[in-house]
Amino acid sequence: MNIGVCNFPLGMTKEILEELRVPIFTNQVEFHPFLEQFDLLDYSYDNDFLITAYSPLAQGKVMENETLQEIGEAYGKTPAQVALRWLIEQENVIAIPKASSREHLENNIDIFDFELEDEHFQAIDDLEKNHRIVNPSFAPDWSK
Ligand SMILES: NC(=O)c1ccc[n+]([C@@H]2O[C@H](COP(=O)([O-])OP(=O)(O)OC[C@H]3O[C@@H](n4cnc5c(N)ncnc54)[C@H](OP(=O)(O)O)[C@@H]3O)[C@@H](O)[C@H]2O)c1
Repeated sequence: MNIGVCNFPLGMTKEILEELRVPIFTNQVEFHPFLEQFDLLDYSYDNDFLITAYSPLAQGKVMENETLQEIGEAYGKTPAQVALRWLIEQENVIAIPKASSREHLENNIDIFDFELEDEHFQAIDDLEKNHRIVNPSFAPDWSK
């Protein structure tokens, strides 16, 4: 049996693994070039679970970002493909983009024939990372 959790910040993830001692397969959280999940990712390396990146295209906003556009031009890829590549090049990360057209679906799968240069990866790391999109009133305290 594989257990997945969703929207668990670091503290809740630690609680389930360390206090309740329930092993998880994945924690699905919002993760894209404009929102960091570095702490959770670090913790996943020591505790052997995957991070599933939801809204990995920042609900389409990646397409408007100049840095992602410029990087995309270097590889002949779209900003969406660059964003997905940045996510999946990080160990333990899988991404679940939503697409409703065939073109977007094909585009999102076509990301396995290039690799980001270190400088490009770093440039995406350096983008401002405080843009949380999914934040309903019943959300947990993300900082804990
Ligand atoms: N667990 C949770 O709390 C939670 C919360 C939010 C979302 N999710 C899940 O995460 C998944 C995706 O998240 P999301 O829909 O919020 O955001 P997303 O995948 O970041 O963005 C979807 C948007 O990006 C567009 N898009 C997709 N592929 C594209 C491409 N190649 N080029 C340009 N635009 C592209 C889509 O347009 P088109 O539709 O026109 O293709 C749509 O407008 C969904 O399965 C959703 O259920 C989970």
